[in-house]
Amino acid sequence: MPNTYANMSVDQLNQEISWLEDEVERLRGLNLSLDMSRGKPNPEQIDLSRPMLNTLTNVSDLTDKGVDAANYGCPDGLPSARALAAEILGVNPDNVLVVGSSSLEIMHSVITNAFVHGIGGNEPWCRQEKVKFLCPSPGYDRHFALTESFGIENIPIPMREDGPDMEMVRSLVELDPQVKGIWCVPKYQNPTGITFSDAVVEAFASLKPAASDFRIYWDNAYVVHDLVQPGDSLREIFSAVEDAGGKDLVYEFASTSKVTFAGSGMAWVAASDADIEELRRAFSVMRVCPNKLVQLMHVDYLGDLTNVRSHMALHAQILQPRFALVERKLTEGLGELDIATWTHPNGGYFVSFDGPQGSAKAIVKMAAELGVKLTSAGATWPGGNDPYDTNIRIAPTYPSLEELSKALDVFVVCARIVSARLALSAQTA
Ligand SMILES: Cc1ncc(COP(=O)(O)O)c(C=O)c1O
Repeated sequence: MPNTYANMSVDQLNQEISWLEDEVERLRGLNLSLDMSRGKPNPEQIDLSRPMLNTLTNVSDLTDKGVDAANYGCPDGLPSARALAAEILGVNPDNVLVVGSSSLEIMHSVITNAFVHGIGGNEPWCRQEKVKFLCPSPGYDRHFALTESFGIENIPIPMREDGPDMEMVRSLVELDPQVKGIWCVPKYQNPTGITFSDAVVEAFASLKPAASDFRIYWDNAYVVHDLVQPGDSLREIFSAVEDAGGKDLVYEFASTSKVTFAGSGMAWVAASDADIEELRRAFSVMRVCPNKLVQLMHVDYLGDLTNVRSHMALHAQILQPRFALVERKLTEGLGELDIATWTHPNGGYFVSFDGPQGSAKAIVKMAAELGVKLTSAGATWPGGNDPYDTNIRIAPTYPSLEELSKALDVFVVCARIVSARLALSAQTA
């Protein structure tokens, strides 16, 4: 029988804890200051896009298909930028607006529009008694913070191995007219790295919402962010909606934040004909036009989807060893103890870790005391409230391999000692 914490005697657990306490003191003595908290590209990844900065000079042609990129006009984004954005998502360029540098900001604008003006002629949300959003959890903390900031009630939905629990989604969306949206990261979900299966995408596409101003907020942030070849494939949502006989059901978002320069690239939204027209009108009072010079640089440098994929393969070469290191360190340090599970993503920016119930806050706190900053425990749940206190988002992209290795050693010791103490108290309770 493997020597798991559940199988150990009180004496064995006490010995294990005493050994781990020595390890904690040794790690404290290293005075580390490491950050494994946010999904940022590392400097080597950023350098991949530096040549893009040379695409524009004082003698460059600043037009795109006859549109002057250096002056007002073309509020939907440059024709080539819309074409590239559409090709990345597999949709029609007419249904895409390239209007900013941050997809999160576009999501905020779309929700602001629903809140202040309403969607499709419906009463604005600010005048409706209550608005609810479904939040597959663990999920992306900034999504949850965004809806929370409007006073919207965030409702957690369990994440399964192939996407959110669609039975629960269907019953809430189809029975409760106060449910107006669901946050989804359908490919390499933040933080689980899970890609929604075709069955899940088709279940989304065939939803018959109780509220006509319900939309799916399909944040395809990691659409081209494969770590391995072939990467996961995701059923294209708009064609699935069409096949299911629906319309006006999805807003899809993406950006080049983790393709070129984070926060300094191009970001876009795609939607049905009617929805995109409504957003075009809403955006027209927010700005005269987007930053088209940035778009010009991006289309000059990235060209088409084939080139984007080659560029992303260079990102993968840098990131893959980091994800392999996470897998190795967690397997070596925790694999046999049967105290934790973690995900094994084929792409994206995160690994999702689950320890024993009641462990996550204590692990994150202890790691911080030893100089390793992790995403706050609970952040992956609405309101920062993980009801089981198990989930920790591991973000391995930013630190160097050497720093990551040290940070993971600290993480493993913290996960072990917290779990061993929980196992001991379960035995002695
Ligand atoms: C799922 C998801 N969506 C959106 C963003 C932010 O994207 P942007 O820089 O385009 O606002 C992130 C950043 O980590 C993310 O993980």
